Amino acid sequence: MENEGICLVNKLALICTFIVGFQIVRFLFTYIYNNFLATALQINAVNLKDAGKWAVVTGATDGIGKAYAEILAKKGLNVVLISRTQSKLEAVAKELGQKYSEVEFKTLVADFTDTQQIYHDLDKQLNGMDIGVLINNVGMSYNHPEYFLDVKNKDEFFTNLINCNIFSVTNMCKIIMPGMAERRRGVVVNISSTAAQIPSPLLSVYAASKAYVAKFSEDLGYEYNKFGITVQCLLPGYVATNMSMIRKATWMAPSPLTYVQEAVKTIGVVESTTGYYPHSVLVDTINVLKSISPRLSRWIVFRTIANVRARALRRAVH
Ligand SMILES: NC(=O)c1ccc[n+]([C@@H]2O[C@H](COP(=O)([O-])OP(=O)(O)OC[C@H]3O[C@@H](n4cnc5c(N)ncnc54)[C@H](OP(=O)(O)O)[C@@H]3O)[C@@H](O)[C@H]2O)c1
Repeated sequence: MENEGICLVNKLALICTFIVGFQIVRFLFTYIYNNFLATALQINAVNLKDAGKWAVVTGATDGIGKAYAEILAKKGLNVVLISRTQSKLEAVAKELGQKYSEVEFKTLVADFTDTQQIYHDLDKQLNGMDIGVLINNVGMSYNHPEYFLDVKNKDEFFTNLINCNIFSVTNMCKIIMPGMAERRRGVVVNISSTAAQIPSPLLSVYAASKAYVAKFSEDLGYEYNKFGITVQCLLPGYVATNMSMIRKATWMAPSPLTYVQEAVKTIGVVESTTGYYPHSVLVDTINVLKSISPRLSRWIVFRTIANVRARALRRAVH
């Protein structure tokens, strides 16, 4: 009787070990596949040039948007550059035009904190063009991390942020995707942020706006896959741009060009990604910590962001 009991316990232990072992192997394989293998082997990668003659990039005069404009031009696509400032648009069109003389650049002025007139004008300007790639990059964030109720001019600021981060992505898709669906080809890359994936206290409205972008992209991608449209959500960590206020590129905060060179390889391969391996490691580490102790992970992130806030407030006083 005692022997039978021991035998049963042994069998159960063996089954549990097998299940846990299987889950670990499955997790490791998925991790390695998603982060290295699929991108390295370019499984399901999209040839962007086949998607259409033109690419449209919002927020194209600086940072990540400018880097996308450059990489897409290098791949042989004509690029529509959109931002608020005509002089900056002309400067970027000239700079890239000298480097990539075989492609065309078109510049359009639009302020995405606006909600109505710009889309009417953009629709008119972009109508009839063979647009294969849309990079919904434009976005705005807080000047520095802040408590929700203490954000300066919060009525105007939150409205602008939501218009720029949410309304722009939704409306640019609304304008450009009908042509893509008709031609049965197209690529949409929506730029979210790791802030949407990890605790982001003191940046609550920004992080929530980027969570909208992630959810919208996921479901939109599923809806329009059968129309030949690839939708990718890109969730960058820190990139050395004006927005992040990081002047010097590092391994963890790469230059926009280094970042986009990596991210662009994942289009068609991964639907939702940080686009850059060190950023994925950071997100995974925080999320593993969160699954072990949600309170500890939130506390660590809060302390880190609160320190950034304190430094910014000290700088503002001096
Ligand atoms: N940098 C990061 O660490 C980081 C991390 C995660 C996610 N992101 C996301 O990546 C995207 C790009 O960020 P970035 O760091 O590259 O920004 P950035 O360097 O500050 O560049 C912003 C671009 O958008 C344009 N722009 C800004 N406000 C605009 C508006 N209201 N209407 C039209 N154009 C506008 C700017 O040109 P004008 O001034 O001429 O309009 C510029 O071309 C954003 O969606 C951001 O949330 C960035």
